[in-house]
Amino acid sequence: MATRTSIRKAPRRTARTTLVLGLAGLLAAAGVTALSGTAQAASTLGAAAAEKGRYFGTAVAANHLGEAAYASTLNTEFNSVTPENEMKWDAVEPSRGSFTYGAADRIVDHAQSRGMKVRGHTLVWHSQLPSWVGSLGTADLRAAMNNHITQVMTHWKGKIHSWDVVNEAFQDGSSGARRSSPFQDKLGNGFIEEAFRTARAADPAAKLCYNDYNTDGVNAKSNAVYNMVRDFKARGVPIDCVGFQSHFNSALSVPSDYQANLQRFADLGVDVQITELDIEGSGTAQANSYSNVVKACLAVSRCTGITVWGITDKYSWRASGTPLLFDGNYNKKPAYTAVLTALGGSGSGGGGGTASCSVTYSKQEEWSDRFNGRVTVTAGSSAITSWTTTVTVTPPQKISATWNGTPTWDSSGNVMTMRPNGNGSLAAGASTSFGFTVMKNGNSAAPVLGSCTAS
Ligand code: G3I
Repeated sequence: MATRTSIRKAPRRTARTTLVLGLAGLLAAAGVTALSGTAQAASTLGAAAAEKGRYFGTAVAANHLGEAAYASTLNTEFNSVTPENEMKWDAVEPSRGSFTYGAADRIVDHAQSRGMKVRGHTLVWHSQLPSWVGSLGTADLRAAMNNHITQVMTHWKGKIHSWDVVNEAFQDGSSGARRSSPFQDKLGNGFIEEAFRTARAADPAAKLCYNDYNTDGVNAKSNAVYNMVRDFKARGVPIDCVGFQSHFNSALSVPSDYQANLQRFADLGVDVQITELDIEGSGTAQANSYSNVVKACLAVSRCTGITVWGITDKYSWRASGTPLLFDGNYNKKPAYTAVLTALGGSGSGGGGGTASCSVTYSKQEEWSDRFNGRVTVTAGSSAITSWTTTVTVTPPQKISATWNGTPTWDSSGNVMTMRPNGNGSLAAGASTSFGFTVMKNGNSAAPVLGSCTAS
C-alpha cells in the first residue's frame, strides 16, 4: 500500500513558512514546481492590524492587570496600550512638584516587555485635574503646565509612541469656541501651542497629538480643531497627529462623513488616530458600526492605528452600554469578528448564527502518473471553529500525500475525511484550503467531494 504523508501545518506564519518550504522541497525532489502556500489570515486584532501597517490598541487599567483573563486577552489581541487614567494629571502629579508614576509604570512595563506600543494620555486636560492647578495665578500656572509636561514626558522618554498633549480643549456645539478651563481662562488660546512646543522639546521622538470627542464628522467643533491644526502647520507649531476619540451610541452614531473627516485632517499633513473607540449597542448593528470605523481608518493612509477604550464590557466607563469587543466573560462579540474581518484577519468569533461551510475542488499540477488536488473550505455567514469534509477517489486511484489538513480514512482507503490542522477557525465568509496528491493508477477521474460540516 502506498505511503500516505500528511504534512502538519501549525496556524501561525512561521509554521506556514515551514510548510511551504517543506512542500517545496518535497516537490523539488520530484522535479516539479512547488505550490504556493495557502494564504492564512492573521487571527488576532493586533496581528491583523499590523499586516495593514497599523496598530490595534486598547485602554488598560493597571489594577486589572492581575486578572488572568484580562491580561491574556490583552496580551493575545492587542499591540498598543493607552493607560486609561494612570497618566492623567491627578494620577501623576497630585500635589505640585510631587510625581507618582507607579501605576502607569506597571502598564508601560507590561507593554514594553511584550513588544506593545504605548500611547500617552494625557498631559493637559481640564478634567481629572487636581484642584491645586486651578488655584494658581497665571505665571505659576504657566510654569506648572510646562513643568508637568516636561517631567512626565521625560520620565517615559523614548517609550511613548504618541502623546495626547492637549485633550478636549474645544466646546461642544456650534460655537467652535475653546472650552473654559484654568489653562484657557488664564493663559488664553496660546496655551495649546505652548504645550506642544514644550512637549516637542521634552521628547522629540514622540508623536504629538491633539485629542478630542464629537469631532468625528465634519461639524462646528471639528472645523474649529481643523482650523487650529491648519494654523499650527502653517506656522510651524509642532503637531504630528490628531486623535478622534470616537465614543459612539444610539444618539451619536458613526457619522457618514467619518472617513472624509479623517482624510481632511490627514491632508493637512498630520497622522490621524482613532483613540478611544467604543460603540454602545449589541449584535449586528454594533458589529457593522465597528466595521465601518475600521474600514474608514484603513481607507486613510495616514490613519495609523485604532485604540478601543477598554477590553471587556464589564470594565468599560459605560459598562451598561456594552460598547466593547469582548463581553464581561471575555467572549468575543460579533463586533470583535467584524473588526477582525474588516482588518483582513480571520478567526473564531461570536457570529451568533448557524455554523456552515461549503467546499470546492480544483485540480492543480498534473503529471503522467498523478495529479494534485486542492479543496477550498469557505465558512458561511457565521464564523466557525472547525470543519469536516470528505474526498472520495475512484479505485485503483490512491491518495499518496496530503497537506494543510489532518486526514482519516475508511477501511477501503478510498474515502478520506479531512479536518483542520490545529485551529480550524474561520471568520464568516473566510476560506482555507487543503491539498492532496492522487496516484492515477491508470484512472484520471476527478475526486468526489462530500458535503462540508461546520461547528
Ligand atoms: O480609582 C477611584 C477609586 O479609588 C474610587 O473608589 C472610585 C469612586 O468613584 O473612583 C475611582 O476613580 C474613577 C476612575 O475612573 C477609575 O475608575 C473616577 O471616579 C472616574 O471619574 C474615572 O473615570 C474615567 C473618566 O475618564 C474620567 O473623566 C474613566 O475611567 C475613563 O475611561 C475616562 O476616560 C475619558 C478619557 O480620558 C478622555 N475622553 C473621554 C473618556 C471617557 O470619559
